[in-house]
Amino acid sequence: MVLQPRLKILVSRDQIAKGVERLAREIERDYQGKQPLLIGILKGSFVFMADLIRQLDFPLELDFIRLSSYGSARETSGKVRVIQGLKTRVKGKDVLVVEDIVDTGITTSFLSDYLRKQKPASLKLCALTDKPSRHRVPISIDYLGFTVPDKFIVGYGIDFDERSRNLPDIYTLED
Ligand code: IMP
Ligand code: MG
Repeated sequence: MVLQPRLKILVSRDQIAKGVERLAREIERDYQGKQPLLIGILKGSFVFMADLIRQLDFPLELDFIRLSSYGSARETSGKVRVIQGLKTRVKGKDVLVVEDIVDTGITTSFLSDYLRKQKPASLKLCALTDKPSRHRVPISIDYLGFTVPDKFIVGYGIDFDERSRNLPDIYTLED
């Protein structure tokens, strides 16, 4: 028998849609006249990225990077590696990193350092969700969708052990 974890709704699909729209308006305002490179962190950001770019009314470039993930544990190992790199040149570009969730901040902090070495014209971070109580490194999020409590969340691209990415809403995983 496969045990189904108990899910409790945290952010509904309607709230997500409104949040994504708000973020798109903020991003549009700041990138007028530019042609930014949006970099999504795989796999968690792909649903968010798909919705976000369709709300952005300006030319943009898109790429994805895959970083080492949690495996099946709920805690970060603290070590991040690039598993699948970028195909696009970063130098001189206005780069916007798109992430599903900032937890300890270790992943986004690693990626910022990694990208900064490639000399982008500017570098900003857009995160759908943030767990501020869990930060272990200083992180500044330029565009934030939702602050979430210190609970494990799934849905809208975000997984637990590769499951639940397909749920249209965001849920907390209850014990
Ligand atoms: P950080 O390096 O601790 O900030 O973790 C970032 C990554 O861990 C995210 O991109 C997610 O892939 C994963 N993660 C952190 N918290 C959660 C969660 O509550 N649910 C699912 N994945 C999570
Ligand atoms: Mg992720």
